[in-house]
Amino acid sequence: MSFKDKVIYQAYTKSFNDTDGNGLGDLKGVTEKLPYLEKVGIDMVWLNPFYPSPQNDNGHHLADYTATYPTYGTMEDLEEMIAEGEKHGIQFMLDLVLNHTSTDHEWFQKALAGDKKYQDYYILREAPEGQELPTNWESKFGGSAWNQFGDTNKYYLCLYDKTQADLNWRNPEVREEAAKVVRFWMDKGVKGFRFDVINVIGKDEELVNSTGNIEQEKRLYTDKPIVHDYLQELNRNSFGQDPEIITVGEMSSTTIESSIGYSHPDNDELTMVFSFHHLKVDYEDGEKWSKTDFDFLELKKIMNDWQIGLGENGGWNALFWNNHDQPRVVNRFGDAENYREKSATNQAHILHFMQGTPYIYMGEEIGMTDPGFTEMDQYVDIESINAYKNLEDKGLPHDEIMDILASKSRDNSRIPIQWNAEAHAGFTDGEPWLQVADNYPEINVEKELESGEIFPYYQKLIQLRKEREVIRTGRYVPMFLEHEQVWAYRRIAEDEEIITFANFYGEPLSLDISQEVEEGHWTYLFGNYGNKDFNKVLELEPYEAISFERKK
Ligand code: GLC
Repeated sequence: MSFKDKVIYQAYTKSFNDTDGNGLGDLKGVTEKLPYLEKVGIDMVWLNPFYPSPQNDNGHHLADYTATYPTYGTMEDLEEMIAEGEKHGIQFMLDLVLNHTSTDHEWFQKALAGDKKYQDYYILREAPEGQELPTNWESKFGGSAWNQFGDTNKYYLCLYDKTQADLNWRNPEVREEAAKVVRFWMDKGVKGFRFDVINVIGKDEELVNSTGNIEQEKRLYTDKPIVHDYLQELNRNSFGQDPEIITVGEMSSTTIESSIGYSHPDNDELTMVFSFHHLKVDYEDGEKWSKTDFDFLELKKIMNDWQIGLGENGGWNALFWNNHDQPRVVNRFGDAENYREKSATNQAHILHFMQGTPYIYMGEEIGMTDPGFTEMDQYVDIESINAYKNLEDKGLPHDEIMDILASKSRDNSRIPIQWNAEAHAGFTDGEPWLQVADNYPEINVEKELESGEIFPYYQKLIQLRKEREVIRTGRYVPMFLEHEQVWAYRRIAEDEEIITFANFYGEPLSLDISQEVEEGHWTYLFGNYGNKDFNKVLELEPYEAISFERKK
C-alpha cells in the first residue's frame, strides 16, 4: 500500500483514553481502543508526544527523546501497542520535536553546567553593543525569543516557550543525534514520523534584527534553503532506509514552493507537509487572538492553490481541518448549534474528496465541538494563558477576552474524547487533566455508533478513497471559484471523473451547473442528504455535499 492510499488518525495521547485513573490518557489506552480505530477504517495513528517532558507545552518539548514518560506508560506498553496494532492493520506515527528540546533535557543541563560540547547544541548569543538582547525577535507564545543562559552574559534562542530551547542544527553532532533518535524508534517498529515545526530548524549563522513586522521576522528563520539539506541528510541517515515509512513535516508559515521541495519524491526529504494558511481565514488582519467571521472565498482559494500547486508539481498535501492546535472546525466554519451533523459531514466530504492524505483528529468522526469554556481556570494551555495576559495588557475587557479564547484556544480540541455518557465522558475514572465538554451525554462515541450519521459517513469516505484511484491521484480542478456559498471541484483521472458540490452554508440554494459541467452519464456517488439524480440545476440543502461520477 502506498502512502497515497492511507488515512491517518491523530490521537492526542493525553486526552485519548486513560486506563489507570490518573486523569491522563496513556499508551495502554490506545491499545485498548484499537478495535475502535480499526472500525473507523484508518491505517495509521499519529500519537502526540508521550516522552518525558515537564509538560509546560503538553509534551512538545522533550526531556528525553528515547523514553516514555511513566504517566503515559512504559516502553513495554509501547511495544505491545505496536504489536497489537499490527493485528488490526494499524501502524503508528510518532510526533518528534527536533527543533527544540526542553530546558530539562540532559543536553541543555550539561550546557548550563559549562560543557562546551553541549553548549554548541543550542543557539547561544551575546547581545551586541547597544542592544539588550541578541535580536528583537518575538517568541511565538509571546515575549522575547531570547532568554538568559544561566548567569552568563549569553542568551539562548527559544522561538516558542522559554522552556523550549532551539537546537543548533548547524552542528553536525546535533543532526546525527536527530538521526539516532529516528533510528531508535524505527527499531521499535514505528512506521511514521510527524516532525514538529521542522521548517524552522535552519537558522542563519548570523542572526539579525527584524523590522518589527512579524511576517518579515518569520522569513528570517523560516523555510531557509538549508532546511532541505538537513532533511535530505536526515532522510538518508534514518527513515529513508525504510521505504514503508511515512513522514509529514509541520510547516510553519510556509510557501507552496518550499513545500513542493519538502515533499517531492525526487528530493528525498519528506512524504508530505502540513500547511496552515487555510486555518487563518478567521484571523483579523493576521491576528489569531481576534474574533471575526471566516472569509469563505479566501478559504477556498487557499485550499485550491495548495491542491493545484502541490498536485501539479509533484508535491503531496496532508489534508486536515482539525488538530491539537486548532479549535474545532465545526464551530469555526460550520454551524455547531443548528446543523452540527450536516456541517461535520459537509466538511469531511469536501476534504476527503481532495488529493492528499487525510488526517482525522480524534473526535472529529463523531462531530465533537469546542467546549465553550467561560473561566480562565478551565484553561491549561500555555499559549492561551499568555494570550490572556497580552490581551489584558492591551486593555481588552475580560468578557471579550474570554470570548476570543473560547473560539481560538488550543484547549478547544485538547479536551478528552467523549467515549460515552458516563462520568467524564468515559475518558477516565479519575479527574481529567482538562475538563470534558458539557455536551458529552449527547455527543459521544457509543451513541454515535448506535445511531449517528457522522461516524458512518467517515467510514464511507475512507472506503471510497480506498476503492477509487481517482480520489487518490486524480487531477484537481476547481469550479465556481467566485461563488460565495458553494465549494465545487472535479477530480479527473484517465478513465474516471468525479464532481463534487458542497453548500458551505445553512441556506439552501439552486445551482445552475450547465455552464461548468457537460451533461452525460453522471451518476450519484455519495452525499450527506442521500441519493439525488444529476440535474442541470442542483438544489442544495443546508450544508449539503454531493458527488457524482462518470466512467470515461
Ligand atoms: C507545534 C505543535 C504545538 C507546539 C509547537 C511547539 O506547533 O503542534 O503543539 O506548541 O509546535 O513545539
